[in-house]
Amino acid sequence: MPEKVRINSADVKYTEKHIESRYCYHTASVCRDGDEFTVTPSSTEFTFRTERTVPRLGVMLVGWGGNNGTTVTAAVLANKLGLTWKTKTGVKKANYYGSLLESSTVCLGSGPDGEVYVPFRDLLPMVHPNDIVFDGWDISSLDLGGAMERAQVLDWSLQEKLRPHMNQLKPRPSVYIPEFIAANQEHRADHLIRGTKAEQVAQIRRDICDFRQKSGVDKAIVLWTANTERFCDVIPGVNDTAENLLNTIETGGEVSPSTMFAVASILEGCAYINGSPQNTFVPGAVDLAIQRRVFIGGDDFKSGQTKIKSVLVDFLVSAGIKPTSIVSYNHLGNNDGLNLSAPQQFRSKEISKSNVVDDIVRSNPILYQPGEKPDHCVVIKYVPYVGDSKRAMDEYTSEIMMGGTNTIAMHNTCEDSLLASPIILDLVILTELCQRITFCTREDPVFQSFHSVLSLLSFLLKAPLVPQGALVVNAFFRQRACIENVMRACLGLPPQNHMQLEHKME
Ligand code: NAI
Repeated sequence: MPEKVRINSADVKYTEKHIESRYCYHTASVCRDGDEFTVTPSSTEFTFRTERTVPRLGVMLVGWGGNNGTTVTAAVLANKLGLTWKTKTGVKKANYYGSLLESSTVCLGSGPDGEVYVPFRDLLPMVHPNDIVFDGWDISSLDLGGAMERAQVLDWSLQEKLRPHMNQLKPRPSVYIPEFIAANQEHRADHLIRGTKAEQVAQIRRDICDFRQKSGVDKAIVLWTANTERFCDVIPGVNDTAENLLNTIETGGEVSPSTMFAVASILEGCAYINGSPQNTFVPGAVDLAIQRRVFIGGDDFKSGQTKIKSVLVDFLVSAGIKPTSIVSYNHLGNNDGLNLSAPQQFRSKEISKSNVVDDIVRSNPILYQPGEKPDHCVVIKYVPYVGDSKRAMDEYTSEIMMGGTNTIAMHNTCEDSLLASPIILDLVILTELCQRITFCTREDPVFQSFHSVLSLLSFLLKAPLVPQGALVVNAFFRQRACIENVMRACLGLPPQNHMQLEHKME
């Protein structure tokens, strides 16, 4: 398969199956003695191997009939069919704006005409979104055509073009445990897997096998984009280890539907991603994923307000300005907003939105004393009239030089599901790519995969799940640099350094 980007280097080998690169990873360890620091650089020789064959990818969405589920499915269909449609402001054309991989670029270096940029997706062999086969579950029986109309996200003339295709897609029945999502969702729940928790997990596993078999995909990834659940109690003996969690599913104790889907996916060897804020990955679920060497990623798509927060606070703190108060107010009128109007479900969202500045604040002990944080308040209100067009208003107050104050206020309006859909695509495409990357070091020459807790996805998630003991990184550009530089390592290229020394010499 001819890659668009080929590396001309003794450190990179193209075999029939792999791109194999030698890469020198530079780090530094630091010793502190009072105010003095001793820094010792070190380096490790890595070999990265990336499988060149791109599989046919199947994606199963939990909550397929929701706003995100229908919008991402419709967007991929519209792109695949090359659809255009008329609106009052002119003819629109299907695209993948908002996707890091499809619509943003990376710099390869300099050519005769200056810097050369290519789409992110061209760095390594990756699944194209148009080739993804979708399936999924929903507690609501409406087919995807009807569900797309209920979502009120896409222009009507586009819906008309898509409806004949979308009508043929029907979600599979799902697990509904009323206490986990808001009571106001009950009217949707007409399409259910009955039985005990063990029987329900067994049915989900059968669904995954059935999808794989009938669709002919090589791989399936399962992603939760169903309603936000309340947090699950983490209880020793119940969900703290893989064994206890599997036992609890047999005996019928506290396990959320999202955790049941996670367990079923992991047991089927399918990566599982949680796009909502709840603690699906109780310790027993993480344990199970590690035991079975299956990727998991979460939590909560980072689509709008939080994305800006992880840029803006990073900018302020790294410019030496001290944010002291961050107040974030939202209102939205879609079904997600309705579900979040219930206190327990709002609480899940509030938790996932609240830790986003922690690593940035911790990185600057000049501005913040140990334990000191800006005031941070998050409000979400349900206003039906605005539908999927979410409004976010943010106020950032910071201390500047000599006791001065700087207040930035921001108003943001956009269709929520049109921001989340490209993120769903990036999540599954990146996860699939990571399944084809292995690496070893000179000291440990056995090839291994990334850790099951796939922290590389952090860029796309509000409350990134990381392996135990690893640092959570929320800062937007560090997260992006991580993805870009890991991909560059797979090509034997050094991290992007932006030094431009060649233009700084006489
Ligand atoms: P939605 O309410 O339109 O869709 C959720 C769907 O899940 C509904 O069709 C519902 O019937 C279904 N559902 C509920 N429980 C289920 C279960 N146990 N099994 C199968 N289906 C079930 O919500 P939307 O807007 O699509 O958002 C989905 C999730 O993504 C929410 O949790 C939301 O908080 C999260 N999210 C959305 C973002 C966005 O920008 N749209 C950003 C970050 C997170």
